[in-house]
Amino acid sequence: MNPETVTTSAAPDIRPPDGPHGTRLLSGWYETGGPAGLAEHLERYSPAPLAAARSTLVSAVQQAGLIGRGGGGFPTGRKLATVAGKRGTAVVIANGMESEPASHKDQTLLFLAPHLVLDGAVLAAEAVGAPTVHVCLARTREEQYRGLARALEERRRAGTDRIALRLHSLPHHFVSSEETSLVNWLNGGEARPLATPPRPFEKGVGRHPTLVDNVETLAHLALIARYGPGWFRERGSAQAPGTTLVTLSGAVRSPGVYEVPMGSSVAGALDAAGGPTERLGAVLAGGFFGNWLTAPLDGTTLGRGAGVLAALPEDACGLAETAAALAYLAAQSARQCGPCRFGLPSVAEDFAELAWGWPGASVLDRLNQRLGLLPGRGACRHPDGAARLAASALRVFGDDVLRHVRRGPCAFAHAPLTLRVPSARPPEDEEWR
Ligand SMILES: Cc1cc2nc3c(=O)[nH]c(=O)nc-3n(C[C@H](O)[C@H](O)[C@H](O)COP(=O)(O)O)c2cc1C
Ligand code: SF4
Repeated sequence: MNPETVTTSAAPDIRPPDGPHGTRLLSGWYETGGPAGLAEHLERYSPAPLAAARSTLVSAVQQAGLIGRGGGGFPTGRKLATVAGKRGTAVVIANGMESEPASHKDQTLLFLAPHLVLDGAVLAAEAVGAPTVHVCLARTREEQYRGLARALEERRRAGTDRIALRLHSLPHHFVSSEETSLVNWLNGGEARPLATPPRPFEKGVGRHPTLVDNVETLAHLALIARYGPGWFRERGSAQAPGTTLVTLSGAVRSPGVYEVPMGSSVAGALDAAGGPTERLGAVLAGGFFGNWLTAPLDGTTLGRGAGVLAALPEDACGLAETAAALAYLAAQSARQCGPCRFGLPSVAEDFAELAWGWPGASVLDRLNQRLGLLPGRGACRHPDGAARLAASALRVFGDDVLRHVRRGPCAFAHAPLTLRVPSARPPEDEEWR
């Protein structure tokens, strides 16, 4: 924390109910095991300071140093300021799609504290001058949709918002949650990414400047509006302030969603879930778009946007895990750009050969060459994320790579996977709308 640069003038004089382990978003709610109703929510937090939002929220969020929790790690205050400064009526999108298979944090947050997310969306809308908020959810999660619809109805009856909150259920594919996919779908098109520019903040829904924020980001924003940037910075590090939700899975004692300070050590974050159940071989940080980290994890800290940690036991095959994830990512692309139509499927095939076949050393030359061609060439970052995962696997499981090349699949290559990888079936054309 840097007290010199932080003012709390925007904050009302109320101390927030921080939880015993520094939890904030989930504090108190986990124990109830059910969604917080509007009355309970207001009792805990008091009403959102809507009147102040227009004049003070953008600078409060900038001072707080809030970084988006949707995976890209972009500074939220800068995005708010840009959209607020654009000509024309703005639009806000709350991205609750959570398409990352290893992540459950947004689903947990939307289940337990829907009004915190909705407050954040409405406050952001006040700050950028948007009359409408679109809340985007995955079509496959019907119970989640019903829960949010109940929360909206509570607010409507109580007359909480003067901003229109609209709920949508979108096709649920990995790239359908990318921000231009949301804009494309809300504009009547398919939930596939669009080529940029223009980016949503320039021309988004109805060609209006559009702010797209992850639902966890919005929940943090709702707390910053109430308790101020100084309070927010009491947790986390100077570069990465606040707390973050993280889904812990694999070889840990109590898998689930936890809230930890930003910049925590990876080992410390795993301890939140009771620690490893056995010796670890590696940890996947950031999900299917993330990086494998080598165990032991001494000193490694959570990176920006790493809302996922999956602990891989020493006797699992990291190459098989990666090959399955890559097959899924290749199938889930929108098949619009060269890297996704040709490069990514070839990388996934090479990896499958490496994990389960008898590939010969030439597979490594092919992989290295193809991985170099994936990043930065698609309309969206899908190929970049897949390339990052593949490259980190080649690095972290380097010894296994050599063993597989020389002797074929290891003893663990056909064991059940630690990662929960959904079926690699590509969506049909009509499933994008
Ligand atoms: C392929 C792909 C999938 C994405 N999926 C999600 C998602 O499920 N949820 C999300 O909030 N952001 C997702 N993003 C990032 C969004 O495009 C966008 O940057 C984010 O919602 C902005 O919110 P933030 O600034 O609060 O992080 C995805 C990006 C890509 C490239
Ligand atoms: S890079 Fe891939 S996922 Fe992204 S828009 Fe192009 S084809 Fe679709």
